[in-house]
Amino acid sequence: MKELENRIQEDGRVIGKDILKVDSFLNHQIDPQLMLAMGQEFARLFANQGVTKILTVEASGIAPAVMAGLEMKVPVVFARKSKSRILSDAAFTADVYSFTKQTSNAIRIDKRFLSADDHVLLIDDFLANGQALLGLKEIADQAQATVVGAGIVIEKSFQPGRDNAINAGIQNIHSLARIAAFENGQVCFVDEEK
Ligand code: G4P
Repeated sequence: MKELENRIQEDGRVIGKDILKVDSFLNHQIDPQLMLAMGQEFARLFANQGVTKILTVEASGIAPAVMAGLEMKVPVVFARKSKSRILSDAAFTADVYSFTKQTSNAIRIDKRFLSADDHVLLIDDFLANGQALLGLKEIADQAQATVVGAGIVIEKSFQPGRDNAINAGIQNIHSLARIAAFENGQVCFVDEEK
């Protein structure tokens, strides 16, 4: 998605050898217009696939997921990372390891919000190692729901997330921006024409 790639080039900052900071428009301060355009693009990419529900993980997945849900006219459920007192014990859970933070979080979704009738689209802001997608897939499997595909805002294609997700049985992965490498602090995108 050209608009997103341009924004990453303009406002993204490469930190070290493998981190892209996009907190001025994606995961701290949010640009709602760009977010809406991304939701529309996800809706176009996953049209006519019978999606009944969108699943994501708090916190940064929520904004793009809500915009996609708005366009696709389906509910959005976000997995919680900490056990809330108002969440019932009847929850689907999975462990998600974060390589960036080197911590493991249990994520959970209340059983009332996911069932075997659902065809779910997974959405997240970053695809790096794929742990969040794997956790969501595990939860969808527990509910016997069908995973239609995954929509990612920014994929770091030099990390193993896509392969890990495919190996876990997630097909139909679309990323709005695919980063091939960081070179001298500059972002190089995957050339989709090749
Ligand atoms: P994974 O989900 O693909 O396995 O990613 P990984 O374990 O490597 O990353 C853990 C967290 O770091 C995730 O956020 C992920 O979105 C984020 N992350 C990974 N690579 C980058 C990057 O290059 N830039 C930024 N800004 N974030 C990155 P999270 O723990 O779920 O945090 P949040 O959703 O609460 O913000």
